[in-house]
Amino acid sequence: MKAWNGRFRTRLDPAALKFSSSLAVDKRLYKEDIEGSIAHVEMLARKGIIPTRDGRKIKRALRGIEREIGKGKFSLDAKMNNRERFVAEDVHMAIEKKLIEKVGEIGGKLHTARSRNDQIALDERLYLRRSISIVCGLILQFQKRILTEAERNIDVIMPGYTHLQHAQPILLAHHLLAYVSMVERDRERFIDCLRRVSRSPLGAGALAGTSFPIDRNMTARKLGFNAVLENSIDAVSDRDVQIEFLSACAMTMMHLSRFAEELILWSSHEWNFVEIGDAFTTGSSIMPQKKNPDIAELIRGKTGRVYGDLMALLTVMKGLPLAYNRDLQEDKEPLFDACDTVTDCLSMFSSMLKTTRFNARRFERMSDFLLATEVADYLVRKGLPFRKAHAIAGTIVRDCLAKNISLEELPLKSYQHYSKLFGKDLRQILNIRSSLLQKKSIGSTSPREVRKLLIRWKKTCDR
Ligand code: ARG
Repeated sequence: MKAWNGRFRTRLDPAALKFSSSLAVDKRLYKEDIEGSIAHVEMLARKGIIPTRDGRKIKRALRGIEREIGKGKFSLDAKMNNRERFVAEDVHMAIEKKLIEKVGEIGGKLHTARSRNDQIALDERLYLRRSISIVCGLILQFQKRILTEAERNIDVIMPGYTHLQHAQPILLAHHLLAYVSMVERDRERFIDCLRRVSRSPLGAGALAGTSFPIDRNMTARKLGFNAVLENSIDAVSDRDVQIEFLSACAMTMMHLSRFAEELILWSSHEWNFVEIGDAFTTGSSIMPQKKNPDIAELIRGKTGRVYGDLMALLTVMKGLPLAYNRDLQEDKEPLFDACDTVTDCLSMFSSMLKTTRFNARRFERMSDFLLATEVADYLVRKGLPFRKAHAIAGTIVRDCLAKNISLEELPLKSYQHYSKLFGKDLRQILNIRSSLLQKKSIGSTSPREVRKLLIRWKKTCDR
C-alpha cells in the first residue's frame, strides 16, 4: 500500500524504493513522530475535524505502537512484511501503516490537514530540542570536570605559549579555565539556537496551509513550542536551525579538538606534562614503551566528520528552490551523526580528564626563560622605553642560552654589564611566583584573579 495509490498505475520500482527510503535513518525519530501525531489528532478532535471517538482510538493506538517499538515488538526495519516485501518510505509511513493495521480505516484520518512535509519539519525540531538539552548538560559536566582539575592544580605554574614557543609563566589553572570559557560560549550558542528551534511548523501542510479549521497555536502549545512558524512555505522548506545546530556542534568540536591536541602533545616524552590514565590510552603490540593517547586523537579526528556534516547540509540547501524538495531528506544523516559525535566526545573527554594526571614538577622545570618579559618590564619601570628594554632583555637571553644558564643563574654584575639600571631589586622579579603575583589586570594569570574566576565558575556551574 502506498499513500498515493489512486494516482499511479504501476508501483515504484523496488530498487528505487530502496534507494529513496529513509526509514533506516529516520526510524530513530519514532518518538518525536508519535508525539507530534498525538498533538495533531487531539487538535483535530477538539476542532471537530474528526470525531472525538476516532481521535481517542487513534491516540491509544499510537501510544501502543510507541510501546511496541520501545520493547522491540514492532520493528521499524526496512522489510515490513515478508509477503509483500514492502519497504516503507520513511518513519511516518511505517507508523501510519501500522496504525491502520491496528484500528482499521479510521487510522487514515490522522493525516487530515497534515503533510509529511510539516511532519518531518516538526519531528526534527522536537529532536533538536531534546538534543540541545542533552548537549548542554554534557558541556556543563565537562566544565565541572575541568574546574576540579584546575582547583586540584591551583598552584602549578607552567610555561604559557605563543607560536608554540615559551612565552610567559602562567598558572596551569588559568590555561585550563580558558577552555571553560570557550565551551561556555558553545553552550550559549546551543541555547540561543533553541529560541529559533522552539517554533512549530505543524499545520503548514505541504506548503500552502490547509482549508480545514485547524488551530496551529493549539498544537504548538501542546508540544511546548513558544510560537508557530508563521509562513507555511518557510516552515516546510528551510533547514536553517539544523544548520545552526550543526555549526554549534562544529564549534564545540573545534574547541575539544584543540584541547585534545594539547593533551596529545603534553603526553609525549618530550613534554611529559601529563599522563592520561591507562583506561583511556592504548599500548603497542610491538613497542612496549608506548602509551598512545588514542581517545584524545579520536576526538581530534572526529572533529573533521562534524565539519563535514555541517558542510554537507549547507551544500544540500544551496540552490534549492522553494518549497519542499526531496533533497531535504538528506539532512538527517549529518544531523544525527553530528549530534551523536558531539555527545560521545563530550562525555569521553570528561571521563578521560578524570584519569589524567598533571605533572607539576615538570611544568615548573620547563618554565625557564619565562622571565625575559619581566626583565624588560623592570627596565621600563626604571625609565627605559619599552623597545629599548626589549632589545636588552633579548640580548641577555641570547647570551644566557649560549652559556647554557638560566636568567636566574646570571649574576647581577653581568646584568649591569648590559645596563646600569639593573639593581639589587632585580632578584625579586627573577622569581616566577612573584612575577605572577605582580600581574594586576582583570583576567590575568595572577593567582588572585585565577582564584576569583575559579570561584565564579564554580558558582555558575552549580546553577
Ligand atoms: N522522508 C521525507 C523527508 O525526510 C519526509 C517528507 C516527504 N515528503 C515528500 N513530499 N516526499 O524529507
